Amino acid sequence: MAGIAEKDKKLRVALGADHGGYSLKNGLLERLQGQYDILDLGAHKYDTDDDYPDFAEVIAQAVASGKAQRGILVCGSGVGACIAANKVPGVRACLCHDTYSAHQGVEHDDMNVLCLGARVIGIELAAELVEAFLKARFSQEKRHLRRLNKVLAIEKRALSSRANTQVRPYRLRK
Ligand code: RB5
Repeated sequence: MAGIAEKDKKLRVALGADHGGYSLKNGLLERLQGQYDILDLGAHKYDTDDDYPDFAEVIAQAVASGKAQRGILVCGSGVGACIAANKVPGVRACLCHDTYSAHQGVEHDDMNVLCLGARVIGIELAAELVEAFLKARFSQEKRHLRRLNKVLAIEKRALSSRANTQVRPYRLRK
């Protein structure tokens, strides 16, 4: 049997959340299943001791490696997940709580991970944001490519710079 035509292939989307985003993530999962090829990468149970960077890394790696074409990350505010996901080269994660940014971020900036805050927005707005994000495509316009390449050049310089080795872990202040 011939393979599935490109136009009929479902977009592969990696979905993840910590405890702060757990129930919103499950709500989104219910709505997206069937429409998209969803990879639910956890959390798979509600655990107040889990940590958003663990899920952010898994989702970011899935997108950076090409295992998924887009990622959606949910934590309490969306902020921590966004900070953590952007540490993985190749990831352009953004916290968007308005539909304009959710699609324009893809069209102009090739955003590939959408971050949401489950303590800030509800399921209806989250579903609209996700739809705007997943339906959007990078414009390929010359000016957007030029800017994106400048962003990628920053990433490349930072990765090759010795400054990278100066990252120190935070410690408790006595
Ligand atoms: C977890 O309590 C909360 O800090 C986390 O989900 C997120 O909001 C971090 O930005």
